[in-house]
Parts: sequence; C-alpha cells; structure tokens
Amino acid sequence: MIDRDAFRGLPGATKYRDVPCGLVDATWVGKSVKLAGWVHRRRDTGGVKFVLLRDRTGVVQLAFEPEGTPAEVVGAAAALNPEDVLWIEGEVEARPPDAVNPEMTTGGVEIRVRGMEILASSDPLPILVAVPPGEDLPSEELRLRHRVLDLRRPELQRNFVVRHLATNAARASLSRQGFLEVETPFLTRRTPEGARDYLVPSRIHHGEFYALPQSPQLYKQLLMVSGFDRYFQIARCLRDEDLRADRQPEFTQIDVEMAFVGEEDVFAACERMLADMFASTLDRTLEVPFPRITWSEAMESFGTDKPDLRIEWRIRDYSPLLAGRGFGIIDGVVAAGGRVRGFAVPGGASLSRSRLDGINQTARAAGARGALWLKCAEDGYSGPAARAVDEQAGLLLRSEHGMAPGDLLVLVAGPDVETSPALDALRRDLASERGAVSERDEWLWVTEFPLFEADPETGVPTASHHPFTMPVDVTPAELASDPFAVRSRAYDLVLNGTELASGSIRCHEPELQRAILGALGMTPEQVDDRFGFLLEAFRFGVPPHGGFALGLDRLVALMVGVPSLRDVIAFPKTTAARGLMEGAPSPVAEELLADLGIRLVAEGRAER
Ligand code: AMO
Repeated sequence: MIDRDAFRGLPGATKYRDVPCGLVDATWVGKSVKLAGWVHRRRDTGGVKFVLLRDRTGVVQLAFEPEGTPAEVVGAAAALNPEDVLWIEGEVEARPPDAVNPEMTTGGVEIRVRGMEILASSDPLPILVAVPPGEDLPSEELRLRHRVLDLRRPELQRNFVVRHLATNAARASLSRQGFLEVETPFLTRRTPEGARDYLVPSRIHHGEFYALPQSPQLYKQLLMVSGFDRYFQIARCLRDEDLRADRQPEFTQIDVEMAFVGEEDVFAACERMLADMFASTLDRTLEVPFPRITWSEAMESFGTDKPDLRIEWRIRDYSPLLAGRGFGIIDGVVAAGGRVRGFAVPGGASLSRSRLDGINQTARAAGARGALWLKCAEDGYSGPAARAVDEQAGLLLRSEHGMAPGDLLVLVAGPDVETSPALDALRRDLASERGAVSERDEWLWVTEFPLFEADPETGVPTASHHPFTMPVDVTPAELASDPFAVRSRAYDLVLNGTELASGSIRCHEPELQRAILGALGMTPEQVDDRFGFLLEAFRFGVPPHGGFALGLDRLVALMVGVPSLRDVIAFPKTTAARGLMEGAPSPVAEELLADLGIRLVAEGRAER
C-alpha cells in the first residue's frame, strides 16, 4: 500500500524522464526509456558496470556494458560519484533469471545505457545516503547537520509518504463529517497551555509582544460562538518546553472543535477520523469504539493516566489482605492512611536476587520509598513481604488473587501519589523484559480528569488540562472551597501508553469560567485583562461546545514505528531546541534589536 501510494503525484513523463526510477517494471521491457535521478550505488564487476539510480519511488539498475554502450559513456560511468545527479537514456531489458531480485519492484529489469549526462555532480559525502543494510547510521547530530542528505534515505522518505497520506485522510474524513478548515493567527495573545510561550517583539509597539500559539484553543472556541459549528485545522503549535524524543518545540495538531456536543459525540468524530486514516494509509481496520475508563480507574489499576493496555497485568490493593498481620512497614503505611498496592508477575519467581534489588531502585527513582516482593512456591511464600503472609493470607492470595506457584508479587507501600508512579514504572519495565507486551495496538479514552492538580513546588492549583474545561457538577462556591476534589470533563486518547490526543467539553458558563480562573490565582482584574475577549463573547449566546487536539507527529511516529518525532518532521530541532542545519536560533544585528526597542543584557550576543 505504502509503496504504491508513494508514487501518487509523481508525473510519469517530464522533460527529463519518461517514468520515475522505481516504476520501471516488466511492462517496459523492449522499450527505450529516459530516466533521471541520483547515483545510489555503483558496482564494477569485470567489465560491466552497474549503477543503481534512485528517486523518491525507488531504485533501478543501469548496466554499462562494453557492447551496446558507447565507450565514452562507459568511461564516464567509471568516474561517477555517489549522489551525482544523472540523466540517461537506454533500452529496458529483462534480467537473466539468476539476476532477478524479487525484493525490488524493478528487480526484473535493467537499463542498457546508451547515452548519459551528469546534470549535477556531488562532492564527497559527509554522511552516506546508501547506508548498507545492518550498518550503523552516523550520529544523529551529524545527520541533523546534514539533514538534506539524511532526508534522501529511503527509510526517512517513506515516513513522509505515510505522514502525507495520513494528513490527507484526516482532512478528507473531517470534511466528510461536516467540519470546516479555518486558519487562526500565529501572532496571538498569550494564553496558558502549560508551557512557556515563544514571544515575538512588536516593532510598532515597543515593549509589547505577540505570543506564538501553543495551540489554537481560544480561537477555536470563539469560532463556535461565531456559529461555525464544526471546525478543524492542521495546526502548527509552538511551545517553549523541555524537549524529549516525543516533544518538539514546533509540532502539528489535528485540532478539532464542535458545538452542541457531549463527550461521546467528540469521541465518535475522532474515532471515525482515525479509522479512516488507518484504513487509507496503512490498509488497517481499527476496532471502534475504543474502550473508555475514568482517570480514577486508570490511576487505580495502572498507576498512570496513560495506561498501556498491551500489558494485561493490573494493579490491585493488597492492604486489606496484608495489613494488620504484624509486618511493621505495611502496618505503618496503612495506619498513616496509605495503602500497599501491587501486581502479580506470572512466572516472575525465577527473577534473580540482583534483578529484584533493581526493582527497589526503580521504585525509589520514581519517588517511592522502595518496593517489596513476594515469591509464591508450592510450599509457601518467600521474600521481604513474606512476613505479612500468614496461612490465611497465603490461601487468599491463591484463591482470590490468582497467585500460582512460580509467580511473583511486586508491592509498593505508601500514599497513592508515591505508589502509583512507582508501580507504573515497574509494570512497564518488567512486562517489556518478560515479553508480556502484546503486539496488538491498544487504544483507550481516559475520562474525567481532575480539574486541577497541585503545583509540585508551591502546592497551588494549576489546570490539569487547561482552564477552559467544564467541571463536573460544581458551583462556583464549591469550586473555590475545595478545588482539588473537582473532576472535569477532560479526556485523553491513549495508544499503547502514549498520549496521542487531549480535549474537553468546555466551560461555557461565564461565572463558572471566572471562578476557575480565580481558583488559579487570578484576580478579577487579571481575568478581565487576559480573557475579557473570551468572556465578552460568551455574553452573546455561546453554544455548549467541546473538542480535541491530536498530536499528528506522535501519531505518524507510531504508525511508522519510530521512537523519535525527529524521524517524522522534515527539519526538526535537537533536544537543546537548535536547528543544526540552518543554525537557529542565531544572534541578530544590534540595529534590528534597536528597531524593536530591545537592548540585550548579556554581552557579546549580537550578530558577528
Ligand atoms: P494538549 O496540550 O494536550 O492539548 O496537546 C494535544 C496533543 O498534542 C501533542 N503534543 C505534542 N506533540 C509534540 N511535541 C509537543 N511538544 C507536544 N505537546 C503536545 C500530544 C497531545 O496529546 N488545546 C488543547 C486541546 C483541546 O483541549 O482541544 C491542547 O493543545 O499528542
């Protein structure tokens, strides 16, 4: 599917060629042909020279043979360098049966070259394009510096074919579902989306700044007030945040908003779009609707708000079973209001002592005080938690909790905020080590997130999705008195443990919206100053509305099976937010800064 589609849009015949390289198949045998492309690889075997000529569609073999090819062309072929750009003409011939390569579309043919022109020659390459199979790629830093060459690698080009097809399919699906594509500004006013803004100084209004959009959030809500009913945009978002493999400072969302909807309507629109994207891009059928669980259930059974359901193991509360049996650590934690939670690892009793010590370290690194373990054997239990297992508990572990001889129970005791991240990390680590991660894709909607979470340093409320989310059944007064107890109508879409999309039903009640912004520490004046335009629009008839945004880069990375977003973004940034190829960011001349009314505090940063 992918390969065939890769050719879509490439014209068959142009001034330079009759057909793209990768499309010269058996139907061309006996015909003469003009081709153009890059020298992928050259191979000399006793008098016959072979060159693989490459373009986006693939490679085709050129044969320069003493009989049939003019001597000067054979001579010129001997001097070709990798990545020279060639034009050739010649005859398409069937390969002898023993030379057929069934792996390649063009593997049954070769071109006996009669004429050749070097359209552009290439200097010696700083990095190889035709990396031999099994050989390591050069360092990523070097490849990013020479991105133009790296992008020629067929593996990378394929990722962009998938990206293109997936984006097209999303556009078509949403259009069929009645969504209108509307563009929103790049030069905007700051709105909180959880990261720092990229700011753009105004030349006309010194001292004032535009912010580049972290997402089109408020604009899409305002479009609902304007009566657009269903909006989408393939939207670039810019966030100045700490970068990781799954985060880029510039990334793309499929951004959607709908009026007169509840959660299920939003989920259905998103599921239909994804099903269409997978069907037309990868020829795969998605089973929709996806399962839904609440945030509380996710935290209870998986210790995380983005559970990887490819792992079957579930976390359970073992406090009722193990507390009060004379084991100090567990009894102390439970007396202090904590719990002992854990999960069973089938066959895990064979883990070595040193591996089990590693469990402790993983739990500590995730913020817990440590982990306990319990091995189940025919004749009883062993391990640090065995002291809490008397005869009755031992029987219950088998009858109620499904423990069998040979199994391991991994336990973490403490308050949930400590045990959840530790159990999540342990569950994922152990499952991948033990091959307990299924091959199937597992999609999941997680719903009813808390409206607020506590800032880890100050403890003050921050929005757990964003401040424009509708709370579940709460008055402005209740919201002010106990903000952390409030649940919200926010949801995430998770694929195999990765958050792919986020969204919510929005707060369309102005007073409640003011109370939310107030709970986040804004004074009424600050609310009016920052969000007056939104609240004012809400006074003139605001429909109930909601939507979502799906991380397109993340989705494509999962579709093509690469771990880093850099492999699906043509010109990505490093984790230090630099563009290594073009050299961004870069200092600018002092005159330019003066125009903007800016003077640098740090010395020596102006353009050289
Ligand atoms: P949120 O901030 O959760 O929601 O973003 C939605 C999705 O965008 C992707 N994403 C990223 N991808 C790459 N690099 C990043 N730095 C990055 N940050 C986020 C993720 C994420 O799930 N306006 C709301 C959506 C809404 O409420 O409708 C929003 O932007 O896949």
